[in-house]
Amino acid sequence: MYVILNAAMSIDGKISTRKNDSAISSKLDLVRVHKLRSTVDGIVIGISTVLEDDPMLNVRYSTTRTKHPTRIIIDSKARIPLNSRIVESSNKIQTIIAVTHNASPRKIKQIQSKGAQVLVYGNGRVNLRKLFQQLEKMGLKKIIVEGGGEINWSVLKLGLVNELVVTISPVVIGGRDAKTLVEGKGFTNICGGIKMKLSNKIIQNKNEIVLFYKLR
Ligand SMILES: NC(=O)c1ccc[n+]([C@@H]2O[C@H](COP(=O)([O-])OP(=O)(O)OC[C@H]3O[C@@H](n4cnc5c(N)ncnc54)[C@H](OP(=O)(O)O)[C@@H]3O)[C@@H](O)[C@H]2O)c1
Repeated sequence: MYVILNAAMSIDGKISTRKNDSAISSKLDLVRVHKLRSTVDGIVIGISTVLEDDPMLNVRYSTTRTKHPTRIIIDSKARIPLNSRIVESSNKIQTIIAVTHNASPRKIKQIQSKGAQVLVYGNGRVNLRKLFQQLEKMGLKKIIVEGGGEINWSVLKLGLVNELVVTISPVVIGGRDAKTLVEGKGFTNICGGIKMKLSNKIIQNKNEIVLFYKLR
């Protein structure tokens, strides 16, 4: 399975403000992301992003797409609200909630009754390697991971990412509590970091840069 990590960040590497405002990039970039979504089989996000943004995670601004990619939410304890836009629309757009054995069976049933599929992988946090293997078996050949920072760290650390696409928007946000592109524990030494090579770059709206990296 080919995995693209896509995110928009400020010049100082934040993907949201300390109050979780994440509308960082331009309309043009949003259109680019939706075009990219229209070429993939699945979109993965973490539960905190659902709780903060209540996204639809569908394809808009694209006239070519007839089917929306499968939405996959990483949610150990099945915390996703039953009235979230994702759960509410899961009878129309294929949706997978990936949970662990710690998730309440009652909540799992409630999610399923709304139309979403529930996959159980792991005990503490969702076992992303096993989940991605299963997604591949289910026929998903290309997916995008769209954050947040915790999920980005986990997929990068596990070596599950083939391509990294980062939009740098011309704004400085600051704030030690504002989320950055990659959270988690992080590597101890620079030499332990994930080495990437720049494969393309675009300048849009004069001041916004989109960088395309592949694994070195
Ligand atoms: N600018 C952008 O491109 C962009 C994109 C997306 C999000 N955001 C912003 O990012 C913020 C949220 O980011 P976040 O880092 O707090 O959260 P996140 O990555 O959206 O979700 C993290 C949560 O996922 C769950 N999880 C389950 N298994 C996991 C695993 N194996 N590895 C990592 N997490 C796992 C954990 O909660 P449980 O233990 O409860 O399962 C964890 O706390 C929001 O403010 C959102 O608006 C910005």
